[in-house]
Amino acid sequence: MEIPQLFSQSQKIRDLAKVDGIAIGFSATDGKFTFSSPNSFIREIENIFEVNLSDELSFFAPSGKAGEIFEIPISAENLKADRIIFVGVGARVPSDFRAAGSSLGRKFKGTKKSVFCSVANLPADIKVFGVSLVLGSYQWNMKTVNRKTDVSRFFFDNQFAREIDQANLLATAVWRARDLVHTPSNIKNPAWMVLQAKKLTKDCEVTLKVLSGKQLEPFGGLWAIGNSSPNPGPRMIEISYAPKGSKNWPHIVLVGKGITYDTGGVSLKRPYDLMIPMKSDMSGAAVILSVMTTLSSIHPRARVTALLMCAENALSRTSTRPGDVITQYGGTTVEIINTDAEGRLVLADGLAYADLNLNPDYLVDVATLTGAATLGLSRQYGAMYTRDSSLAKKFHDLGEKSGDRVWHMPLTNEYKVGLTSEVADLNHMGGSHIFRAGSVTAALFLERFAGTRKWVHLDIAGPSRSDSDSGENPKGGTGFGVRLLIEWIAGLK
Ligand code: BES
Ligand code: ZN
Ligand code: ZN
Repeated sequence: MEIPQLFSQSQKIRDLAKVDGIAIGFSATDGKFTFSSPNSFIREIENIFEVNLSDELSFFAPSGKAGEIFEIPISAENLKADRIIFVGVGARVPSDFRAAGSSLGRKFKGTKKSVFCSVANLPADIKVFGVSLVLGSYQWNMKTVNRKTDVSRFFFDNQFAREIDQANLLATAVWRARDLVHTPSNIKNPAWMVLQAKKLTKDCEVTLKVLSGKQLEPFGGLWAIGNSSPNPGPRMIEISYAPKGSKNWPHIVLVGKGITYDTGGVSLKRPYDLMIPMKSDMSGAAVILSVMTTLSSIHPRARVTALLMCAENALSRTSTRPGDVITQYGGTTVEIINTDAEGRLVLADGLAYADLNLNPDYLVDVATLTGAATLGLSRQYGAMYTRDSSLAKKFHDLGEKSGDRVWHMPLTNEYKVGLTSEVADLNHMGGSHIFRAGSVTAALFLERFAGTRKWVHLDIAGPSRSDSDSGENPKGGTGFGVRLLIEWIAGLK
């Protein structure tokens, strides 16, 4: 589907002649209504449409809760607008503007309207609102009947042109990640991921390298998993953003779990219903690919390399078995206990490859890694692991600001004994059956491959999917992590 765009333009009424509606933000405190639009704009609307907006609110007495919407009819000569859409912005904190934006976006999903939005005075609030406006109108389906594909256009005062550009960039990137995640696995496989990476980065200032077949021999984890589906087999996609003059800039390496379908392999997922959402097990790779498409527009002061570890975890006669021992990139041997814990094996190769060859200043991996992370934090927070407290604070704060919230989890040293194996350097379950901290033990396993780098692991199994079509999210893939990573990288300017 086409991505709805935000535009900045003059808010002079004569320039608004063509919009279908005007959205105005408001709050209610102790029965008193206030507008979050500039007073001058409210007065102008009241004059032109001969309406008293405060009286209208007093009469209908809405709650003013963030995301509440109600409309009143209006008309004026030579102006097309036939309604004012009041949008509740609650206490006017960022999460309120997100709720307001997604509510309005949802209202106009699949319609072909033009709406002028006057909902905030502060540029940062406009940006948050704008991103959520686009995200709330997201839809993906392969319906052949009753498919609503029309796209609305949203206009903002041109004093916010910069924020509107940023909001378009962020929302477009999240939208693209969602499209990749929503695509079913009979269509997407590792080779399809390569095609998408080429297509999406076509006009970006990045280089792309793809490893397949024999070239993947040193990558024992990716190979062990991906070979379960020999047609087309695993791929490692390396995308580099390194513009002229960037040699001495900090180097960020992003490693993404790109399991295009996770059956669990020989340790087949049970109950079988657990498999249904597993087309989304490549969310980490989708998020990172989307982030890479934005860099040449952001011009961050950082070199960025993405490693998308793409494989299907299938059940077949070439599947890896419990009890097999594999050799990861760099030589560490690993005893496989449960083939459903495949994500850490493909990530370990990516982390080791980055540590041994790419000299990263920051090493960040993003993965739908464990059901345990979802049990611990559910869908509103990603589980963040790092031993670097300043990075943890940075990611936490940017998460609250951007809407991709992460919670700092412990890398508990006492659980490391679980990583021992009688037959290999490591056992890949990390003793999760003893300690029950499945997301923590998975992180401890990954840490062994990150060397001494500044490393952050984001287990996004919870927030990468939404169980319902509500708020900013559709049912299914959310694109969680795109905003957080872009804001972080952009901030390194
Ligand atoms: N892809 C799953 C994790 C997952 C579960 C993501 C639910 C999203 C929703 C992962 O590969 C997996 O199967 N992990 C196992 C690990 C276990 C076998 C140690 C898990 O979490 O159950
Ligand atoms: Zn699995
Ligand atoms: Zn998985």
